[in-house]
Amino acid sequence: MRYLGSKTLLVNQIERLVFQCCEKGVFFDPFGGIGTVGSHMKKAGFRVISSDLLLFAHYFQKSKIECNYLPDFGNLMPKMREPEKMESYMNSQVQKDGWLVEEYAVKRKYFTLENAYAIQGCIDQIWEWRAQESINETEYAILIASLIQAMDCVANTAGTYYAYLKEFYRKAKNKFMFRLMSPIYGDKDCICRHGDANELIKEFSCDVLYLDPPYNERDYGSYYHLPETIANGKVPKPKGKSGVFSDGRTRSLYTIKSQAEAAFCDLVHNSKSKYILFHYTDEGLIPIEGARNILRNIGRTEEYYFNCKGYHTTTDDRKSKHHIFKVDRT
Ligand SMILES: C[S@@+](CC[C@H](N)C(=O)[O-])C[C@H]1O[C@@H](n2cnc3c(N)ncnc32)[C@H](O)[C@@H]1O
Repeated sequence: MRYLGSKTLLVNQIERLVFQCCEKGVFFDPFGGIGTVGSHMKKAGFRVISSDLLLFAHYFQKSKIECNYLPDFGNLMPKMREPEKMESYMNSQVQKDGWLVEEYAVKRKYFTLENAYAIQGCIDQIWEWRAQESINETEYAILIASLIQAMDCVANTAGTYYAYLKEFYRKAKNKFMFRLMSPIYGDKDCICRHGDANELIKEFSCDVLYLDPPYNERDYGSYYHLPETIANGKVPKPKGKSGVFSDGRTRSLYTIKSQAEAAFCDLVHNSKSKYILFHYTDEGLIPIEGARNILRNIGRTEEYYFNCKGYHTTTDDRKSKHHIFKVDRT
């Protein structure tokens, strides 16, 4: 799944910087998004701790990082307990009446009707299993993350759920196919949490703290409202042309110009790590001199630049360089 601000194309450069700090230990990624950097560092042999404010992103992290293998879905009927059987069962689900069909296919062109029927069928089934307590929290997380990943492959959007395209785009005409997400195999006891980085930072010590907060005013909760609604398991009340549903959640301080620097300062001062890697974006909400002062106060600071065409929403952003601060506190 494409994700706003994803570092998919930079994971090897990030890994090289991490290895300059240490070759094993605990890697903490509190703004982990859908787990791209965390899963890479798990593969590289680190014990990963990660978190995110969004529940759906947390479920992606849990599926890839916290799980070392697929759960057995032991309380479901035997016919669902093998991955291929679960996939074919989910792919046989069809529900023509429901909020997703009505709000996001009939009223708004996020999905073709046929795909919306299939997605609605999967949502209803997974929510029902959870209500009946036939699946545990990890099983729910894997099913939801798998569903969202599959749904995203046929969403009629330019990448996020902030708006849909006027005409059905090529990818939206493909047939929805549910596929179970595969956990990254590993033997480390990784931890994924749902919550605010500024709170979780007080709980964990680590060797390398990787900080990749939002860098502009785009609110992830609005851009990914539909995946978040599905993860939350509650029927939404969508509004406006795009059908954004916010459920009264609070906005991240990192997306508010007047608050971002203070939030960052508080986070850094409460952190317990040997090294910090801060993924900074020039022209972001935190002024460069502010970031430098905060980091130089706590350790020896070096700055690195990478050129990379990551996933961004505007052509201008594509030209921007990635800027990483490395802080050594040993
Ligand atoms: C730039 S993205 C991270 C991208 C990620 N490194 C990747 O490669 O996919 C920033 C993430 O921080 C999350 N976020 C924003 N404010 C947060 C907070 N206060 N605590 C935890 N996560 C937060 C957003 O939901 C988003 O997933």
